[in-house]
Amino acid sequence: MTSSTPAPAHFLWGAATAGHQIEGGNTNTGHWMLEHAPDTWVKEPSGDACDSYHRYGEDIALLAQAGLNAYRFSLEWSRIEPAKGEVSRAQLDHYRRMIDSCRSAGVEPIVTLQHFTVPLWQHQEGGWYAADVVDRFRFFTETATRILDDVTWVVTINEPNMMVNQTEARIDTEVGVNFPGPSPHASQVIAEAHHASVEVLRGLGHVRAGWSVANQVYQAVPGHEKDRDEWAYWREDFFLEQSRDDDFIGVQSYLRTIIGPDGPVPFADGVERTLTGWEYYPEALGQALRHTRDVTGGVPMLVTENGMATADDTRRIAYTTGALSGLGEAIDDGCDVRGYLHWSLLDNYEWGSYEPTFGLIAVDRETFVRTPKPSLAWLGDLARRNELPRVPERPEAAANFAAAIAR
Ligand code: BGC
Repeated sequence: MTSSTPAPAHFLWGAATAGHQIEGGNTNTGHWMLEHAPDTWVKEPSGDACDSYHRYGEDIALLAQAGLNAYRFSLEWSRIEPAKGEVSRAQLDHYRRMIDSCRSAGVEPIVTLQHFTVPLWQHQEGGWYAADVVDRFRFFTETATRILDDVTWVVTINEPNMMVNQTEARIDTEVGVNFPGPSPHASQVIAEAHHASVEVLRGLGHVRAGWSVANQVYQAVPGHEKDRDEWAYWREDFFLEQSRDDDFIGVQSYLRTIIGPDGPVPFADGVERTLTGWEYYPEALGQALRHTRDVTGGVPMLVTENGMATADDTRRIAYTTGALSGLGEAIDDGCDVRGYLHWSLLDNYEWGSYEPTFGLIAVDRETFVRTPKPSLAWLGDLARRNELPRVPERPEAAANFAAAIAR
């Protein structure tokens, strides 16, 4: 049975997207190059994506009409700085119009400066390994501040821990696959870039700056807590620690990972999986919030991503109900949570394929016609009532853990 409790006053209710995943035609990025290279894991190129570069007004209107009050989107660095040091005023104006569209629809814009993609020139100079990348990111942040004069929430870098846990050579292009292990060097560089960016943003006086970290909800096989903590440090906790002096931290949560002596333990047979192959585990969000609170020492949190890839929208609603229930419990437990941004507003380009559909809105791949799913109205309704659903514990969560560690 679902009951509900009030969400905090001024709670942000919204959905999130990222430039490369929805705009289309982002030809000037390392990722576009990868999409067109032979023999990669990429199933299909991003192409026109959702054509949101032109249709952002419709996207924002659908979000607002449903009752949501916040939209997280990213600036595309490769458009704003198409060549090193060369700024496109017209592209800055484009993103300024997006901010204006949010404002006139009564929607709080939450702007991400960098969401996985870097310009081709930056990629060719080594991505996050380029010698001057901290200065380049500071410059890009300074450039972006030209359009941020009334923007409160800025996410500097999306999931730095995913980017630097890719391969040493080309972290900026190999998103979503092959996790060979942490790179302390790249982690420190990206943290430095983040701190430089926060300093610039703080100079504006009105911005709340933070970054968004992918929370994996590492759970230890009993007796292997130390192995779990070691596994987690460079993959997650280092990045949470970097937020201790920030204005907020973005919490991104989808799943859990059970850690034994040899690393991740496979799921038990028969576990419900999402279209990305992940365990259906809505409980992850509440746990991610508590862990983030514990490591950061209580920095305000904004859920910047949470959702499920599924073709069955009723499962999306069930998943989100469970996740929001966990969020409510985390608040009861003293967590300072300022909002919830669902991933994603649209069925978009999931870094190599359009198959995993995370959207509250379906997008026709030929015509770009948007069709809101029932989950959009459902989430908008919660937003209007400012209520968090509450559901009882799911026995499968514990049963699936027991089955995984029994193997
Ligand atoms: C990323 C998104 C991605 C989502 C689902 C996050 O890692 O920030 O870009 O689409 O998870 O995989």
